[in-house]
Amino acid sequence: MDTIDLRSDTVTHPTPAMRKAMADARVGDDVYGEDPTIIELQDYAADLLGKEAALYFPTATMSNLAAALTHCARGDQLIVSKKAHMFAYEAGGSSVLGGISMYPLDVQFDGTLPLDEIEGAICEDDPHFPHTRLVCLENTVHGAGGAPITAEYTAQVGDLAHRRGLVVHLDGARLFNAAAALGVQPRALAEPVDSVQLCLSKGLCAPLGSLLVGSRPFIAQALRVRKSLGGGMRQAGIVAAAGLIGLRDMRARLAEDHHTAQMLADGLATIEGVTVRPVHIRTNMVHFSIPERVNAAAFVAEMRARNVILRGGPHFRAVTHYWITPERVEHAVRAMRDVLAEMRVRA
Ligand SMILES: Cc1ncc(COP(=O)(O)O)c(C=O)c1O
Repeated sequence: MDTIDLRSDTVTHPTPAMRKAMADARVGDDVYGEDPTIIELQDYAADLLGKEAALYFPTATMSNLAAALTHCARGDQLIVSKKAHMFAYEAGGSSVLGGISMYPLDVQFDGTLPLDEIEGAICEDDPHFPHTRLVCLENTVHGAGGAPITAEYTAQVGDLAHRRGLVVHLDGARLFNAAAALGVQPRALAEPVDSVQLCLSKGLCAPLGSLLVGSRPFIAQALRVRKSLGGGMRQAGIVAAAGLIGLRDMRARLAEDHHTAQMLADGLATIEGVTVRPVHIRTNMVHFSIPERVNAAAFVAEMRARNVILRGGPHFRAVTHYWITPERVEHAVRAMRDVLAEMRVRA
């Protein structure tokens, strides 16, 4: 990647090792269950999370949607954070395509949904109400600055949901960032829940792909749902080969992204007029603001001219990843300091 693209970790390009693995990948028709690379990837993911089975999807969005459609019937309700990707950024897929209503809760600064609010959102068995079936969590929590949620909290939600006859789905698009930040094994974060979505195309750098992980019967049903969504792919082992490298080799380096995120936050905090909130970075996301009086669109354009890509204004979220090295962080901070100083002089 030539640019310093801080918009998201979704912008990551595949690594040289991934490109080689893709060129060499063994493939087959995965709708017939005959792609050896996909089988290997699914088995690896299930084993990593201590679950029975996994299923490969083209995107995290489709994987989350398939989880909701598999767990719920039409007319059921799921409980979710107002800022969760599943609620806020997936075009309402569960409702649009599944007839599932979503009950949104406010997320706390630490990424949790209060247990009493989850319990309070569960409908009584009464014909006036929908049937509450599912609680959806996210880890890390992108709507709470990339906060990782702990295995203990996840277990509390799992216990509550199971006691009330519900199931739990975890959108683990950045589960390995959470595991790295908390210093725990990924399976500890997955153990209390019924299904997990793992994304391969964010911090792990694969060009695409997600895994839905859960029990054997759940995955068997999700396979049917995936087919109905048009997500059954053929020789997709080509891209699954990159996903395998992501799962095997890229997890261990995610702590570096957390380090560069803190470096970026510390650097930005030294620039006059820039506010960083919170100053203590929890994983790979940095939230900062420039002064309201600065023309944010002009600022973004000036930064792009210096090879740094940002999205937002006056509030920004910058996300670090494999392609954001410490040197590139230094360049971005320098560029921002210069651009804001020049814009001040011109004003
Ligand atoms: C937490 C979370 N879940 C799911 C997704 C969906 O990923 P995709 O857009 O690749 O389907 C994203 C995308 O950024 C995300 O941040």
